[in-house]
Amino acid sequence: MSSADSMRLLILPGDGIGAEVMAEVRKVVDWFAGNRGLEFEVSEDLVGGAAYDVHGVPLSDETMAKAQAVDAVLLGAVGGPKYDDLDFSLKPERGLLRLRKEMDLYANLRPAQCFDALADYSSLKREVVAGLDIMIVRELTSGMYFGEPRGITELNDGTRVGINTHRYTTEEIRRVARSAFELARKRQNRVCSMEKANVMEAGILWREEVEHVHAEEYPDVELSHMYADNGAMQLVRAPKQFDVIVTDNLFGDILSDCAAMLTGSLGMLPSASLGAPMANGRPKALYEPVHGSAPDIAGQGKANPIACILSFAMALRYSFDLGEEADMVEGAVEDVLAKGVRTADLGQAEGGTTVSTSGMGDAILDALSSRA
Ligand code: NAD
Ligand code: IPM
Ligand code: MN
Repeated sequence: MSSADSMRLLILPGDGIGAEVMAEVRKVVDWFAGNRGLEFEVSEDLVGGAAYDVHGVPLSDETMAKAQAVDAVLLGAVGGPKYDDLDFSLKPERGLLRLRKEMDLYANLRPAQCFDALADYSSLKREVVAGLDIMIVRELTSGMYFGEPRGITELNDGTRVGINTHRYTTEEIRRVARSAFELARKRQNRVCSMEKANVMEAGILWREEVEHVHAEEYPDVELSHMYADNGAMQLVRAPKQFDVIVTDNLFGDILSDCAAMLTGSLGMLPSASLGAPMANGRPKALYEPVHGSAPDIAGQGKANPIACILSFAMALRYSFDLGEEADMVEGAVEDVLAKGVRTADLGQAEGGTTVSTSGMGDAILDALSSRA
C-alpha cells in the first residue's frame, strides 16, 4: 500500500507513437525531479501489442498488479495494424480495457481547451473556438463496451449476428454524475448530460438518475440534458455553450474525438481516468492522451507529444495535488505554441518553426526552465 507522500508512477508507453510521446513525458518527469525536487519512483512496463509480442497477452497479470499498486499509471497508446488479425481477446485494445475495468476507473475526464495560438488552426472558425474550455466526463467502465451478452453467434440458417449490450445500473450512473457535478462546482457550475432517452431505455434511466443526484446532492449546479446526436452537432456549432458534459462510455468516446478537433489536433487532448479513493486518499488513476498509436506516422518523429505531456500535468493535479506544477506544464505548452513552435499536425505558424516530437519536448523543457 502506498504511503500518503509516495509518488509512484507506472509508465506504459505501449505501441506506435505511444513510445515516442512517452519519451518526452519522461524528460518532463526528470525535469521536475531535477528542478523542483519531486521524487517520483518510476517503473516502466509493457501494454498492448508490445506486451503481446513478449507475453502473448496484451496485459500480463504482473503488470496489472503493478498498476493496482502504484499511485498513478501513465499510458501512451495501444494498437496497430500488425495485430488486426488477432483473436478479439488478445487485441492490444483489450489490455487498456482491462486496466480501466479492473482499476474501476469510472470517470474519464477529457478536457478540450483551445490554446489561443492554435485558434486559427482549428477546422472551425477562430471565433467559434477561441477561449474554449470544456470538460467531457465520459463513463469508462460500463455501457456498450462491457455489457453482457456480447459476441458473434450464428443462427440456425447460418446468418451471423453480432451482439453488444448497452447496460447501466443506478449506481454506475450516479457515481459518474457526482464526478461531473463536483468538477462543475470548480468551473462554471454547469453540467450538460447527454444520452438518447428518446430511443433507449438505458438513456431514460441515465437521465432519471442524473436528475436524482442533482436534486438530492447538487441542486446548486445548473443541469441541462441533450440528446447525444444533437450534442455532437452543438459541439461543432457552438462549443463554448458547454462547461461540463457528462455522458456514457460509447457516446463519450465519439464526442471527445469530435471535441479534439476544436483544439486544433487530436495530438492536443489529454485525459485522466479516475476511480475510487485508495487507502492513501488518492484516487485510482490512469492518465493517457485521447489519441491512439497513429500507425500512419509512427517511427517518423512526427507525433505531437503535447497530449501526453498534458496528461502528466493532469496526474500532477489530480493524483498528487500539485496544481501549481500542473499550471507550470500547461503554461509552458502555451508559451511554446505562442512562439510558433509546431509539430506537423499543427500546421505551420507564420514565422514559426516545425519541430519533431523530441524538438517539441525540448522546447517545452526550455519553457519550463524559463518559468521556474
Ligand atoms: P489515432 O488516434 O491513432 O490516429 C488518428 C489520426 O490522428 C491519424 O492520422 C494520426 O496520425 C493522427 N494523430 C493521432 N495522434 C497524433 C499525435 N499525437 N500527433 C500527430 N498526429 C496524431 O486513431 P486510429 O488511426 O483510429 O487508431 C490507430 C490505432 O490506435 C488503432 O489500433 C486504435 O484501436 C488505437 N487507439 C488507441 C487508443 C489508446 O490507446 N487510448 C486511442 C485511440 C485509438
Ligand atoms: C479511447 C480509445 C479506446 C476506446 C480504445 C483504444 C479501446 O479509442 O481511449 O478513446 O475506445 O475507449
Ligand atoms: Mn477513442
